[in-house]
Amino acid sequence: MKPKVTPRLAVLISGDGTNLQAFIDACARGELAAQIGVVISNNPQAAGLQRAKDAGLTVRTVDHRDFATREKFDEALVNELCAFSIDLVILAGFMRILTPVLVRAFVGRLVNIHPSLLPLYPGMHTHQRALDAGDAETGATVHFVTQELDGGPAVLQGRVPILPNDTAQSLAARVLVKEHVLYPIAVRWYLQGRLHLTDKGATLDGSAIPAGGVQYTTGLS
Ligand code: GRF
Repeated sequence: MKPKVTPRLAVLISGDGTNLQAFIDACARGELAAQIGVVISNNPQAAGLQRAKDAGLTVRTVDHRDFATREKFDEALVNELCAFSIDLVILAGFMRILTPVLVRAFVGRLVNIHPSLLPLYPGMHTHQRALDAGDAETGATVHFVTQELDGGPAVLQGRVPILPNDTAQSLAARVLVKEHVLYPIAVRWYLQGRLHLTDKGATLDGSAIPAGGVQYTTGLS
């Protein structure tokens, strides 16, 4: 019998890395049967790099400004991910648009979290857009990454209320708390072999996940 190898995660960041921290903590608590094999940032100044170092993780900076094209940048990322034998790539505030070079190499093994109730508000400035629209609630969505920006099949979605005096900042903070709950759950489903990307979309335990994703409720795990 082959020895069971612990799955290896890569977490790709550009900024604060609070979602990265949620994964570091979930691994430390034994909630994810995986190890973070590498943390990659395109931004040498990303505060999240220090979180990774503090946790004793291997870090790499692949600065997009060093590459002539998005494709060349993605090629460098793929090389790093392959060098670390990565099983699942987790985009956690990674502020680059990906090309097919990366998406095809990791199709079905590449996930993102987006701070809106997708399909609402793909792209940037999601919190301000939700406020401007007068929405009563917003949230975050974990989804598989495909070539369509923030458009891959949704996996898990969590909602938060929008309160009368909210600003984009206060809303972002409330949504982030929810992100830190949602994202490790979705990754756990993947590691347990329950979550797949198929021709027909995302499935959980063999059943199609509805558009928008499984709706998070307290106690879901
Ligand atoms: C999160 O809101 C994520 O949804 C968005 O960027 C933010 C990253 O936050 N894509 P952090 O770097 O994980 O703290």
